[in-house]
Amino acid sequence: MATEQKQPSSLEEELEALLEVERFEPPEEFRRQALWNDPAVYEEAERDPLAWWAKQAEALHWGRRWEKVLDDSEPPFYKWFLGGKLNASYNCLDRHVEAGNGDRVAYHWRGEEGEERDVTYAELLADTKRFANVLKEHGIAAGDVVGIYMPMIPECLVAMLACARIGAPHNVVFGGFSAEAVRERMEFSEAKALVTADGARRKGRSAPMKAAVDEVIDPVASIETIVVVRHTGSECPMRDGRDVWWHEAIEAADPECEAEELDAEHPLYILYTSGSTAKPKGILHTTGGYLTGVACTHRYIFDLRPESDVYWCAADVGWVTGHSYIVYGPLANGATSVLYEGAPDYPDKDIWWELVERYRVTVLYTAPTAIRACIKWGPEYPGRHDLSSLRLLGSVGEPINPKAWLWYHKVIGAERCPIVDTWWQTETGQIMITPLPGITATKPGSATLPFPGVAAAVVDEDGQEVGPDTQGLLTLTRPWPGMLRTLYREEERFVNTYFERFGRETYLVGDASRRDPDDYFWVIGRVDDVINVSGHRMSTAEIESAIVSHAQVAESAVIGQTDEDTGQSVCAFVTLEGSLEGSDELVAGIREHVATRIGKFARPRRIIWAEDLPKTRSGKIMRRLLRDIAEGRELGDVTTLRDPDVMEQLEAKIKERGDEE
Ligand code: WT7
Repeated sequence: MATEQKQPSSLEEELEALLEVERFEPPEEFRRQALWNDPAVYEEAERDPLAWWAKQAEALHWGRRWEKVLDDSEPPFYKWFLGGKLNASYNCLDRHVEAGNGDRVAYHWRGEEGEERDVTYAELLADTKRFANVLKEHGIAAGDVVGIYMPMIPECLVAMLACARIGAPHNVVFGGFSAEAVRERMEFSEAKALVTADGARRKGRSAPMKAAVDEVIDPVASIETIVVVRHTGSECPMRDGRDVWWHEAIEAADPECEAEELDAEHPLYILYTSGSTAKPKGILHTTGGYLTGVACTHRYIFDLRPESDVYWCAADVGWVTGHSYIVYGPLANGATSVLYEGAPDYPDKDIWWELVERYRVTVLYTAPTAIRACIKWGPEYPGRHDLSSLRLLGSVGEPINPKAWLWYHKVIGAERCPIVDTWWQTETGQIMITPLPGITATKPGSATLPFPGVAAAVVDEDGQEVGPDTQGLLTLTRPWPGMLRTLYREEERFVNTYFERFGRETYLVGDASRRDPDDYFWVIGRVDDVINVSGHRMSTAEIESAIVSHAQVAESAVIGQTDEDTGQSVCAFVTLEGSLEGSDELVAGIREHVATRIGKFARPRRIIWAEDLPKTRSGKIMRRLLRDIAEGRELGDVTTLRDPDVMEQLEAKIKERGDEE
């Protein structure tokens, strides 16, 4: 008993002591063997960024070499590797098989109930070819959009790679989104086919996917085919002439399918992400630049040795992290990865560490929110397993608080593993600001420096670079190969969102940041109405629009509230219709409504009933005040309010009723 009590407090003391450490140099042993351990890479890239990116592109297989590295004649519509031809699936699969590595495991897949399936490069290629033929047989050709709404199973990756093989841009919707969100994204992109599964599993239960899609998809006239993977075995009605079973189609398909040589700028995929309005943005990524960007960042930031490393990015394929660092980057580099279907706490809270031990994972890439959950569960869970295979750790998705960083460093990395805190976005496609593990001294909470070839600046409202330790707006001041090319079918919105404020050659990130006297970047968080819950990006406007579509709701304002576990959480101020009073039932109803419209992960954690919302004289909701009140802070300036009494009423309301959790 006595030792049990001493243990946690001594860990706490050790972490406390680490807080004093200002910078962590790369461990000598790591530095010595690292792929990159000479800071000269920064100088080389800076001397001639285009030559530098061209050198990175050489690592890929090109059917035809490019004529021009960058066409910047029409910013912000940059084109990379003009005249070059290649195929992403060829680079991810055929190339490795042809080099004699067909038997290498591409993914150690682990199902939620403990099932295991090792998928080799040769197997992945064979399935990809067959499925590419299935798509073709159903009339899908280069340029046609294919929706993918699937759990974390190898078939999801096969579907993506098959699309890439024939030049059909995929549009993956994260499996946690509702069918309604799928419908909307299929409609916006005019998808011609949808690949899905009968159901998804979560902690011992299963939820229908295909049947849920059936209820809403009819109005999307463009969808001609729905391919369904049998996964959970749940009830799954099929419609003649439209719906096809994956296993039947793949079995009947021709096993041979050449990879199509596509232009470097051929669209590879669309991925919808949240913006500051209710309508999601279709981020468009293309082939040559994107693949160059993700392959080289994956190789050098994770110091990847394809022959010996076992790499695990514990994100979901449905987000950009999965696209770039589960699928395209690792496969382009011939990596062996872990692909895990389930939750981090099922069947127990040590499942991740069991998998690290079982597959001898060497590189682990996850999000701060997952680390914070582990801290809460306690060090005994990782303590049950041998984690000595780990040699490098990564973080992504939100700023990592120093406490979580140090815990990751100490408890998971045993003070032996460098941590790469990688800053990037769906739009950037590739990691942009990050340490290089064999070069950069890290500071807990800082993503440190731009990747070689990348240029970033922190500027004030007028676009002037600010001095050290001053907060400003993060910008990217030079094009990079993995950058988004446009917002799908919304060119004007693309220009206005990212390239209007500071001109057409400066990309506005949407994050606040500062730099310290060592020039390190400290990313603070979003400055727009986008919030980040557990590394999931959400638009307050999108959630508001879902809440307002509830029959009893008159008006709503959503803010991101600081949350110890999830970074931010959704807090909704709601005004009800007529003289309705808030109730537990209404709370449940509104949360359910948001789950149906967007997905469970977007449900407000807290709902505050408001008689009225604080608005300016021109009718704009003052979210700043709502954030202050939700977090119990002193209210800022209220003089610009149309009706200053509103805030008093709200404060009284919060005091008298508490709030709904
Ligand atoms: C936003 C992008 C990048 C893939 C996952 C999220 C925040 C991301 C970090 C980091 C501080 C970070 C930013 C960014 N963010 N990584 N290492 N440190 N903030 O992609 O959904 O497009 O979200 O996530 O606010 O703008 P996303």
